[in-house]
Amino acid sequence: MKKLLMANWKMNPKTEKEAIRLAKASDAANVVVYPPFPFLPAVAKALKKATLGAQDLFWEAETGPYTGEVSARELKSVGVEYVIIGHSSRRALGEKDEVIAKKVQAALSVGLVPILCVGEVLEEREAGRAQEVVDKQLRTVLSQLPLVAHGQLFVAYEPVWAISTTPHSSGLQSLSAEEAPAKSVELIRYMQHMVSTIQMETKFLYGGSVNLKNVQEVFGYDEIDGALVGGASLKAAEFGKMIKEVST
Ligand code: 13P
Repeated sequence: MKKLLMANWKMNPKTEKEAIRLAKASDAANVVVYPPFPFLPAVAKALKKATLGAQDLFWEAETGPYTGEVSARELKSVGVEYVIIGHSSRRALGEKDEVIAKKVQAALSVGLVPILCVGEVLEEREAGRAQEVVDKQLRTVLSQLPLVAHGQLFVAYEPVWAISTTPHSSGLQSLSAEEAPAKSVELIRYMQHMVSTIQMETKFLYGGSVNLKNVQEVFGYDEIDGALVGGASLKAAEFGKMIKEVST
């Protein structure tokens, strides 16, 4: 399978018009675009080659009295194929592994491909607990999945300290985002092993300040099947160049 470049737009851009422009600039076969919910139909229409993703969902399968929530089936009905679950911005708002597990199951139940995000914060990395933290995040979700789900799941390792837009709780940063892809490989290898011991098969993405400068490095690691890009995916010119970089 070709490695994938995934564009997580988070809460951007401001208007549908801008979303359409950005979608057209990001439209390539190995790209998955994740716009905010209101722009999904317009972006779906604008994309000819790229695939549509959503940034979250609610776990209940049926329609019902869940104000503000969006179901997996609703997303599917507007052309969504992939869905990000358990992103660090949602975990920072209080989302827990148990809820994330339910969301992953809801996605799989209608044939959406979940992108399960895991990653430690700076304090955990500095305390030598990165592996332990990620292990728990992953194990809680995987232990609840049916066997048929294997191979249909991406795990995105996003060390929170390497995500450029996240304010760091400690002012002094002993680790730089430049070191993150290389450091992530060790942890991804650990997760690959962990996943294989429970007879599962997943693909792995890296996320955290991926940009034009380091996208080749990230795509060069055999352990990594693609990148989840935030900030750089909002800059049409830069993202266009990143698409070219990884397609040649
Ligand atoms: P940045 O690429 O802006 O660091 O964001 C990464 C991310 O959170 C993607 O989901």
